[in-house]
Amino acid sequence: MTAVAARVPMVAGNWKMNTTVTEGVALARAIMERCAAERDVEVALLPPFTHLWPVRDVLAAGPVLLGAQDVYWEDAGAFTGEISPAMLAGWCDLVLVGHSERRHLIGETDEETGRKVAAARRHGLLVIVAVGETEAERDAGATAAVVERQLDAVIAAAVDPLRASDWVIAYEPVWAIGTGRTATPDQAQEACAHIREHVAARIGDAAPRVLYGGSVSAGNAAELFAQPDIDGGLIGGASLQPDAFATIVAAAHAAVVR
Ligand code: PGA
Repeated sequence: MTAVAARVPMVAGNWKMNTTVTEGVALARAIMERCAAERDVEVALLPPFTHLWPVRDVLAAGPVLLGAQDVYWEDAGAFTGEISPAMLAGWCDLVLVGHSERRHLIGETDEETGRKVAAARRHGLLVIVAVGETEAERDAGATAAVVERQLDAVIAAAVDPLRASDWVIAYEPVWAIGTGRTATPDQAQEACAHIREHVAARIGDAAPRVLYGGSVSAGNAAELFAQPDIDGGLIGGASLQPDAFATIVAAAHAAVVR
């Protein structure tokens, strides 16, 4: 583990393509009621694009960060359906890039992920970069090589060298996402430590925060967050349940104060 000062844990809720705008605003309110008091954990909500503006009003009263689930790499132009970083900058705090559903369902390449990260950084948005191997890649012993390749594409595309405060990495094994099959704490720790070492070796000692994602629940968050190289979580399904999400945030808090 590389010692990095102020690796404030983050718990980010990726709502994916769930909730209507009305439901999303109610969900944000319910989460705010339960989580807004946590000052030593960064909490972020990533609603669908359509919800960002009204959810921003709900979050305005507190420290919870607002994030988008994706972003395009151009600032403006004939790119029907896309949302640019220029549209988000100034009122949105962060964007998620490279989620496995974008990579594997939509077909986004490592190169496109890198362009998106570079574009988001040009506009000062904090970026959560998701990386992770498929089950076949894990079985083939390729986990380290896959996450290195995904990270290197982002590092290579960066216009300015990425500093620890510019990005957060989420290690999300594809086989654990939405399946109820969480990586064991040892598996998650091993991959997150490897990611930290690789990034530190590539761009200096400023290793960013590394989150674990993939079937994190109220029941397993504490043992995952207790691992020395896991700085919180990227939460899918459980982020739609305010009580479960609040329990996960509390687990991140407990990991800080332990
Ligand atoms: P999950 O999703 O928590 O539902 O497994 C995690 C993610 O995709 O970020």
